[in-house]
Order: sequence, then C-alpha cells, then structure tokens
Amino acid sequence: MNLFEFGLFKTIYRWFVRSLANQLLFSYLLVITVALLAVSLWALFMIKSESINDLRNSLEVEAVNLALEIDNDLALDSLQAKMRIKKAVDRHATKLNVAITVVNESGNVLADSRANLQNGSGENIATQSEINDALAGIVAFYTRRSQSTQTNWFYAAYPVRSAGRTSGVIRVGVPLTNIEQRLRHDLIVFLEIIFATGAITVLCSLWLARRVNQPLQEMSGLAKKIALSGDISEFVPVSRRDEIGELGLSFNQMIGRLAEQERMRQDFLANASHELKTPTMAIGSVVEALRAGAAEDPVMRKQFLNSLEKLVDRQSSLLQDLLDITRLDGRGDSAGHEPVNVQQLIHDTVEQVKDQSERKKLKLLIKWPSDESEKNKLTGLSVLGNYLQLQRALINILTNAINYTPEEGSVTIIVELGEHEQIQIKIEDTGPGIEPGDIPHIFERFYRADKARSRASGGSGLGLAITREIIARHHGTIEVDSTLGKGSTFIINLPVFLPAFASIDKE
Ligand SMILES: Nc1ncnc2c1ncn2[C@@H]1O[C@H](COP(=O)(O)OP(=O)(O)OP(=O)(O)O)[C@@H](O)[C@H]1O
Ligand SMILES: [Mg+2]
Repeated sequence: MNLFEFGLFKTIYRWFVRSLANQLLFSYLLVITVALLAVSLWALFMIKSESINDLRNSLEVEAVNLALEIDNDLALDSLQAKMRIKKAVDRHATKLNVAITVVNESGNVLADSRANLQNGSGENIATQSEINDALAGIVAFYTRRSQSTQTNWFYAAYPVRSAGRTSGVIRVGVPLTNIEQRLRHDLIVFLEIIFATGAITVLCSLWLARRVNQPLQEMSGLAKKIALSGDISEFVPVSRRDEIGELGLSFNQMIGRLAEQERMRQDFLANASHELKTPTMAIGSVVEALRAGAAEDPVMRKQFLNSLEKLVDRQSSLLQDLLDITRLDGRGDSAGHEPVNVQQLIHDTVEQVKDQSERKKLKLLIKWPSDESEKNKLTGLSVLGNYLQLQRALINILTNAINYTPEEGSVTIIVELGEHEQIQIKIEDTGPGIEPGDIPHIFERFYRADKARSRASGGSGLGLAITREIIARHHGTIEVDSTLGKGSTFIINLPVFLPAFASIDKE
C-alpha cells in the first residue's frame, strides 16, 4: 500500500516536473478551481441569508395580522374564544401554507394548525427557545430539525401584547425544504460551471502546451544534434513573431555565427598551410640543387646557403606570427596590467628596426611635441597593458613602413596627446600608398594588397591583423590614412593610464 502510494506520488511528481506545460496546466487549474469555489460558496451563503430574510419578513407580517385578530380572545379564557382563535389560525395557516401555533402567557398551547383539537392540546411548550424568548417580550427566530418529519423548520415567534403585558405568543413555522432544494440546485449549477471551466482550461492549456512545447522540442533536438555531430548546416523553422519565435531567431543567429566561425577557422588553416608550403617547397628545391652538384662550386654553394638561410628565417617568422595570432585568439579580453611608459616603448621599438631602415637608407625620425612642457608631460605618460605585445604591434607597422617605402624615403613617428585622455602615435611613410579599395581589408588575416611585392618582401599578411588585435585588447583604435603615390599614415590611439585614479579605485 505504502509502496503504491509512493510510486503514484513519484509518477505525478515526474509528470509535473518534466514538462513546463504540465506545470502551467496544474497552476491554472488550481487557481481557477479555488477562485470559483470561493465565489460559489460566497454566493450560496448570500442566497441562503437573503431567502431567510424574505421569509422572516413575510412571517412577521402574517403574525402581526393574526395578532390583531386574536388579541382580545387571548385575554378571554373561554371555549368560544379558543375556537375563534383556532379558526383564525387555520385560515392563516392554509393561506400561507405554514404551521401556526398560539400559546397563552404561561406557554400552554391554545391552538395549533397542525392539530385537529378544537381547544388546543394545553401542552406547555414554554421551554422551547423561541417561545421562551417571545414570552419574555422578544421577537425570536430559530431553525430547528423536526424529529417527526426529519426536516429543518424555521420558526418565528411573536409576543402578543395587550394592556402593557405579554398575553400570549404566536409562532409561525415553515419547513426549509424549498430553500434547501434551491440551494442544492444552485450548488449543482456552480459545480457544473467549475467543471466546465476546468475542462476548458485543460483544453486551452493543452493547445498552448503544444504550441510552446513543439518549437522548444525542435530547438532542443537540433541543439543535441549539433552537440553530438557538430553539423551546423541546419536551422530551426521560425514562423511566429512571439517570444518563442524570437528565441528561434536567436538560436538560428547563433548557429549562423558558429558556421561563420567554423568557416573562418577552415580558411585560416587553409591559408596557413598554403603559406607554410611555399617556403618549404623552396627549401626542398635548394637542397636538391645542392645535392645535384651546386655544393661543389664554392660561389654557388654560398649563394644557395644564403637563400636557404632566408627561407628558414621567413618560415620561422611566419610560424611566430601564426603562434601569436592563435595565442591572441585564445586568451580572454585583457592584455596585461603593467604600466608601459610611452617614451621607453617607442625608443626600444625604434632601436629594433634601426638596422633595417639603415640598410634601406631611410630617414627614421621620432617627433615629440615642439612645446617643451607638453613633451615632458607626454614622455612621462604610460599605457596599461603588456609591454611585449605593444612593442610587437608597433614593430609590425614600422616594418611595413620600412619594407614598402623605397630607398632614400623617410619614416616618421609622431607622438601627440590625443583627445579624451589618449596618446596618439602616428607612423608616416613616403611609400607607394594603399589603394582605397584595399584599405578596408588590410587588417584582415592573410590579406596582402600588392601580392607580388609583399610576397617578395616575405610578407604573409598577418602583421596588421596581429597589430589590430593587440591594440583592441588595450582598448585602443587603429586607423589608416593613405594617398596613392605619396605615402601612408597609420594612426594608433591608446588610453592613458592614470595612476591617481587607479589608487583612488583601490581604496
Ligand atoms: N606602410 C604601408 N605602405 C603600403 N602598403 C602597406 C603598408 N602597410 C601595409 N600595407 C599593405 O597592407 C598589407 C597587409 O599588411 P600586413 O602587415 O598585414 O601583411 P604583410 O606585411 O604583407 O605581411 P607580414 O606583415 O605578415 O609579414 C600588405 O601586404 C601591404 O600590401
Ligand atoms: Mg607586415
């Protein structure tokens, strides 16, 4: 028995917890039933008290009329008087279909419409509550169950007064069968309404549940499928404009984004392998040439070994770029938390590219503000982040400027205080400039504007992509301004690190 109860309870609990629709259905049903029951009970109570009230009033009127008729006879203790009382009592009782009893001042029955005795039974009923109250001068109402008819009766007892004292009591009684029948009927109607409303609620909830459950199940099915197989070629059908439709749209957007990322990942792999393949194949041919006899000739050997060295350098710098970009992809948002002094950063970076620019006979200049105090202010400023990353970003731009600017040209670094507490670093060259159509793409991975030339200079198109990623991680921006035939300017803005605020923050 216990086990069965536990099992049943468990089944119901599972049914409830497993489905959102069931929870909705159950809650609706509970609320509606409780509300309707409360309203019905209140209505039944009101109907009952209204009916009793009506009854009271009509009984009172009848009693008063009868009292006017019999008050003289009540005072006379004769047989004729009693007979007159009995007649009047019978007449009123038949007219209204009620039971009337009259007692004298001591509570003895003088006349009873339900008994056929001409002069009353004489039985003393002064102990009955309503008679007792009325003899004391109070109009009294009582509901009592009659033992003989097994029905509830409503009694109203009125004191008849003459010459300032209570000379008797008229009691009018009505069986409550009619009222009770009506209440029973009303109760059944109310229960029918509750049942019908419950049934409609169940139907509506089932319909709603289907509408909600079906798309949710579709989505969850698709999500499971994607999780298991990784196949992101499918979308969920969306034909609605409500919240579920919106969820479907977001779900599809998410799948679209995943698909795009997957495509980007594949592109990246394909590009990376392609870039690695070219120098590897070149290394292979050089080694083959050396084997075939080039190693014997000292001049050729030197030449071949030199190009071998260049190829290996290019290969390792490409690998470094690939490593950097995957590392930047993987790490979260933050770049690092050390203050990096701007002057130091620019000085060290320039040191690293000096040789390269000298080899190309380029003028490499750093321009600080001409105003001495502004310059002093600027050289003291720092950027919060990672020193090596920032240096890498600047070197990429400077290397481009040096690589793409013809000999005897110039590369200038201009450092200024930008707007909104920012440091602005501009790198200006006198190179060939960039085609306007290429400008939006040069920061993309593996994008090279002038393929032949950049490949000749060993470029793989990752430099600017890495730079943009690093600058973004430092909450900065990078833009390019270029005129064909005149040169290009790369403009970097980085937020100034304000130690004063940082220390206030820490407090
Ligand atoms: N200063 C510049 N002047 C002219 N063109 C430039 C300049 N800087 C970048 N570019 C163009 O933008 C392209 C992308 O630059 P990016 O630095 O990303 O790649 P790369 O220099 O070709 O190769 P990598 O830097 O990875 O070795 C270059 O191929 C070049 O065409
Ligand atoms: Mg580059």
